[in-house]
Amino acid sequence: QAGLSTRYFGKNVHYEKSVSSTQELAHRIASEGGEEGTIIVAEEQVAGKGRLGRQWYSPIGTGIWMSMILKPKIPPQQAPQLTLLTAVAVIRGIHAITGLNCDIKWPNDILLNGKKLVGILTEMQADLDQIQSVIIGIGINVNQISFPEEIKETATSLRIEKGKEINRASIIKSILENFEELYEIYLKEGFLPIKIMWEAHAITIGKRITARTMGGSFQGFAQGITDEGILLLEDDLGDTHKIYSADIE
Ligand code: BTN
Repeated sequence: QAGLSTRYFGKNVHYEKSVSSTQELAHRIASEGGEEGTIIVAEEQVAGKGRLGRQWYSPIGTGIWMSMILKPKIPPQQAPQLTLLTAVAVIRGIHAITGLNCDIKWPNDILLNGKKLVGILTEMQADLDQIQSVIIGIGINVNQISFPEEIKETATSLRIEKGKEINRASIIKSILENFEELYEIYLKEGFLPIKIMWEAHAITIGKRITARTMGGSFQGFAQGITDEGILLLEDDLGDTHKIYSADIE
C-alpha cells in the first residue's frame, strides 16, 4: 500500500501466501460486503483459473496474481467493457514501470513481442438487471525465467523481455492508479473514450485477419469493436460479420 496515490483502489488489500484462486477468495469477500476497490493478491495459486475453463499457471513468488472487486452501477450486459478497460490500465501500468509496449489481441490477451504476458478474467455476480459484483482477475508473468513445456513457445515474462528482475509491487501500484483513473472516466463519460484507447493498442484492428469460430472461418478486414466488445469483420464481398468468440490469426 505504500505510496499508492489512488483514492479507493487498493486501500483494502488482502495478501495471501497461497490460495487456490484469488478469484474465488474475491467472490467470497465481495459477497460478505467487501468494498469496491478491494484487492486480493497472492504469491501463489494452486488452482489458478484461466478463461474457457483453462488453468492458469501461477507459480510462487514470480508473477502478479490478483483480483479486484468492483461494484459498478451499470447494466450487467456492459460488464465486458470493464475487461477492455482493465487491459488498457494494465498496458499503461506496465509501460510506466518498464517502458515496454504491449499489444492487445482481441478479445483480451496481452502480448509482448507476440507472446502472452497477461491474462484477464472477468466474472460477475448479478441478478436480472443488477450487478452484485464484478471480479476482475489479472495474471501477469513478471519474473519467471522459464515456463512449462505446454506454454513454453507461447508465453513470456517481463523478466525475459527486459533482461532483468522487475519489482512486482511497483507494477501493481501503477496498474491500480491507471485503473482508477480510467474507471472514473468510464463512469462519467461512458465507454467511448476507453474504446478508443483500447483500439489504439489492439493489433487485431485495422488488419486482415482470419477468425476461426465455432460456425466456421471468416477472412477479411477487422474494422473495430462494438460497445459490447464484439469484433466487426468485413469480408471481401463487403459484408460485415459480428464475431463473438474466435481464434484470430
Ligand atoms: C486467461 O485465460 O487469459 C485469463 C487468466 C487470468 C489469470 C488470473 S491470475 C489472478 C486471477 N485468479 C485466477 O484464478 N485467475 C485470474
